[in-house]
Formats: sequence, C-alpha cells, structure tokens
Amino acid sequence: MKALEGVKILDFTHVQSGPTCTQLLAWFGADVIKVERPGVGDATRQQLVDVPGADSLYFTMLNHNKRSIELNSKNETGKEVLTRLIETCDVMVENFAPGALDRMGFSWERIQEINPRMILASVKGFGPGKYEDCKVYENVAQCAGGSASTTGFLDGPPTVTGAQIGDSGTGLHLALGIVTALFQTTRTGRGQKVLAPMQDGVINLCRVKLRDQQRLEAGPLKEYSQYGAGIEFGEATPRAGNDSGGGQPGRILKCKGWETDPNAYTYFITQAAVWERVCDVIGAPEWKTKEGYKSPAERLDKLDEIFARVEEWTMTKTKFEVMDICNPLDIPVGPILSTKEIIEDEGLRKTGTIVDIDHPKRGKYTSVGCPIKLSDSPVEVTRSPLLGEHTVEILRDVLGYDGEALAKIVESGAVGKVDQKAAE
Ligand code: COA
Repeated sequence: MKALEGVKILDFTHVQSGPTCTQLLAWFGADVIKVERPGVGDATRQQLVDVPGADSLYFTMLNHNKRSIELNSKNETGKEVLTRLIETCDVMVENFAPGALDRMGFSWERIQEINPRMILASVKGFGPGKYEDCKVYENVAQCAGGSASTTGFLDGPPTVTGAQIGDSGTGLHLALGIVTALFQTTRTGRGQKVLAPMQDGVINLCRVKLRDQQRLEAGPLKEYSQYGAGIEFGEATPRAGNDSGGGQPGRILKCKGWETDPNAYTYFITQAAVWERVCDVIGAPEWKTKEGYKSPAERLDKLDEIFARVEEWTMTKTKFEVMDICNPLDIPVGPILSTKEIIEDEGLRKTGTIVDIDHPKRGKYTSVGCPIKLSDSPVEVTRSPLLGEHTVEILRDVLGYDGEALAKIVESGAVGKVDQKAAE
C-alpha cells in the first residue's frame, strides 16, 4: 500500500509549478487525474520538443504516474463532467492565471457546494495584494522573492539561479499544504483552500538572506568576503558570490583540469573546527599558530590570500580527489557536478533519484525520480500519460458513465477524440 492510496486528485495544473506538486502526490500513491484541453493539452507537451511527434521532456519529466483526460471545461457537457470529477475527488489542484477558475464557473463557493470536503489547492504568482492579478513565471518569482538580489557577485547584476525555486519550489510548498489539509479534513470533515504564492515560496527559501538583512542593522556582516575586503555594506543584504550562508568562509575553487572543463571546481569550506587539518592538507602548517591566521576572526581580512593558497593545492587534484582526501578529515568540500555527471551517477540511479523510463513515442529517456524516500511507501516511476490516454477509462471507471451517457459525452465534443474501441 502506498501512503496516499485512495486519495483522488483532480489535477488541473499546467507548465511546471502545479505539475511538480501533483507528480509528488502521484509518487506517494494518489490517483492523479490530469485534466487537459482537448487536442491541445498542457502547453509544455509541445515546448522545447526534441523528438518530433512526441511529448517533450519538459512535459514527460513533470507528469509521471498520472492519468490524462481530455476535457473542455468551457463546454456545457464538459462542465457537467468536471462537476462529477469535483464530487468524486478529494483535492483539486490548479495553477491557472488568477480568476481563470471563476471565469470557468467554478468559484470556491461553487466547488464547496458540489463537494464540501474538497481541498482546492492553488499556485499563484503573488498572494493577495497589489500584484495578485499578475501572471507569473519562474524568474519573476526569483526576482520578487529576494533570490535574484542576493545571488551573483558583488560587482555584477542580480542573477537568477538554475534551481527552479519559483516553480518546483512552490510545487513542493503546495504539496505540503495539501497533505496537511488532508490531515485536517480527517478531523473536521471540511475542505479548505490551500494557496502557495510563488513569491512567498521563494521568500521562504531566502530566509537566511532576510536574517542577514536584519543583522545589517547591528553592523557589517563579518563573515561575508566583502567585509574582509574592506568594502562598505549598503542598505540591503548584498550579493555574496560563493560565500557560504552559514558563517563559515567558503569559496568555489579550481581543480585539476579547470582550463578545459567548465565544472572542474570544488566547493571548499575553511570551517573553524577543522582549520588545523586544512592547514596540514594544503601544506601550510605554519598558519596553525601564526598570528593573524590562527583564529577565525583574525582570518577574515585574509580570505583572498587563504583561498588562493588552498586553490594552489586543489588545482593539483581532481574535484573527486579533493573529496576523497578531505572527507575522511571532516573538511567540508563538494565537487561541482555537471548535469552529465549527475545523469550518469551510479549511486543516484541505485536510489531511484535518477531513472530511465520507456515511452511509447519517444523511446527511452532519463528522468529525476522522487527525491523524498518513504520506507513504507516505495516509489515506482511510470511514464507520463499521452494526451487523453485515459479519457474513456476515467469517464467509465471513475465517474461511472457507460453506454449512451458515454456516447453522448463523446458526441458533445467535450472530451475530444477518443479511441472508439475503448469507448465501446
Ligand atoms: N478547457 C477549457 N479551457 C481551459 C482548460 C480546459 N481544460 N484548461 C485551461 N483552460 C483555459 C483557462 O480557463 C484560461 O481561460 P481564460 O483566460 O478564458 O480564463 C486559459 O485556458 C489560459 O489559462 P492561463 O492560466 O491564463 O494560461 P496562460 O498560458 O495564459 O498563463 C501562466 C500561464 C503560467 C502565466 C498562468 O497560468 C499563471 O500565472 N499561473 C499561476 C502562476 C504559475 O503557476 N506560474 C508558473 C507556471 S510554471
């Protein structure tokens, strides 16, 4: 039995933020029914297409373990079917532009009338306030959530990160909101609305930068490289390059091969607790006792010199050799892994975080599996559904339409083209 077995999700999501949320719920065992516009489907099916005629990786990597029903929710018969889905499901997840659900005729009040236990979970760009009507994408959220202003180097522009913290990050927040609401429903018998605004999700992930914003009032942020370099602080938390956020000086340093390999680098932290071991490893044992070097506070204005010396050493080793030497000494280091190295990583394949999937139209592709491991609810990643692949199955088996009723729905155009044989 899977953790969320028996939970039915009406998945009205598209693009990235909503689909990442419902994919997680599907991995934990929920029956996720993805509702898509007939003939069109989630726009990502056709975005960044790499295999002509097949769903894109954008879609296939975000919609595993779901079923797809084509349904025009603006057609009268389509609305009837959607009403039945709302009656039948436990959770409705959507990330349409603000107001889209109301315009379809399914306001929160109407949804509650249909199913008082329904949990309506939404991603929006912004929470209530002056920007609540905006359509929002990933980078907008990163910028409005404090990530861009604190990412990058001091002498460069604000920078977005490669991690999709606005979309996938908000999907994670929403998933937690949904399972929490499901838990509350078991006690109250009532549904509720769950809202995860993307800006708020990013702010949550930038919590330590807002910590630093307030620490600034008490004086300069001494663990930032900027302090040691004698550069004055402004009014807001600055961009701190590759400084570590936890107060221990850290930098990204070149390793053997850096001249030709853009990822031959390691993260290296000169953690106070292992300073003496760092000195020994890099061949600078004199720093262990030398005035100006022996305590963390003394070292703050010498970080450039210190990391240059560490780098002289890391440049003689590959990033993996640095890891092999430093790990046993508890010196925190991290190889900068390329996406190619991650996809090929045997360890990640064994744990199911990287998986190979077969797809009828595109053949084999690699995907990211479930990053959260439940010992009592193992995840089997299955391929994403083709558009409308389960339309008849859902109408018949989930909603109980059969014979004439089923034929009427197909005729009305509410569900697009269906496999006649399956319908019969
Ligand atoms: N049948 C009929 N109509 C459907 C439908 C279906 N099955 N599914 C969607 N539609 C309609 C919607 O009702 C909407 O119609 P309306 O504009 O007349 O109300 C229309 O399709 C388009 O939906 P919308 O959400 O506005 O799509 P968009 O492509 O214009 O905008 C986003 C995309 C992502 C910017 C927007 O959805 C958004 O801001 N979402 C919230 C924030 C978010 O999740 N952003 C990150 C995405 S990764």
